[in-house]
Amino acid sequence: MEITFLGHASLSVKFDSHTLLVDPFITGNPMVKDAIKLKDLKPDFILLTHAHQDHVLDVEEIASGTNCKIISNYEIAMYFQEKGFEVHPMNHGGSWSFPFGKLKYVQAVHTSSFADGTYGGQPGGFVLSAAGKNIYIAGDTALTMDMKLIPKQFVLDLAILPIGDNFTMGIEDAVHASDFVECSKVLGYHYDTFGYIEIDHKLAKETFKKAGKELHLLGIGESMTI
Ligand code: NI
Ligand code: MN
Repeated sequence: MEITFLGHASLSVKFDSHTLLVDPFITGNPMVKDAIKLKDLKPDFILLTHAHQDHVLDVEEIASGTNCKIISNYEIAMYFQEKGFEVHPMNHGGSWSFPFGKLKYVQAVHTSSFADGTYGGQPGGFVLSAAGKNIYIAGDTALTMDMKLIPKQFVLDLAILPIGDNFTMGIEDAVHASDFVECSKVLGYHYDTFGYIEIDHKLAKETFKKAGKELHLLGIGESMTI
């Protein structure tokens, strides 16, 4: 399974013949510039954790004219269904077997509204079980005790956690989150894009290392394989 960081909280996850795109925010990200072209992404599914603009900006452009299916909470799914897109609605605690593997929509502590003010349901994260791996994609969230439920059901190979602070967990809380989900291999995201969430990379990595954990920070367009 290959995970490519597309900047901010945008990820492309590739395995077998599948491409999943998570929270596409590319054209509005000043850090991306010309590094990523939307037309090159070609996902068969788009996973959306919540409705904020920095997670859904490029959904319509990417999904238009394709068979790509949008997977998110009920309210976000209905929002895109009304615009004519293929969707699969989920809600917290629910799992579904898709052609690529299984997803569970899990709790996140955050907010969720579209840029036009439309209600975007409650925010969440995903546990992806596919190609023999379990990955937790936390979405935008605070540290929450609900994370302790995840290892009761899954042995994670990777936890993708926000680390930028201010709008989500910061580094210290992400270390605790890594404990809660019982996964020492962490990919950090949701940092550096705006002034509010700039982090010290060296300090972030050292903080994880001191706790006996591995923090991966990928450059835009860079991939890791698990
Ligand atoms: Ni958000
Ligand atoms: Mn966000």
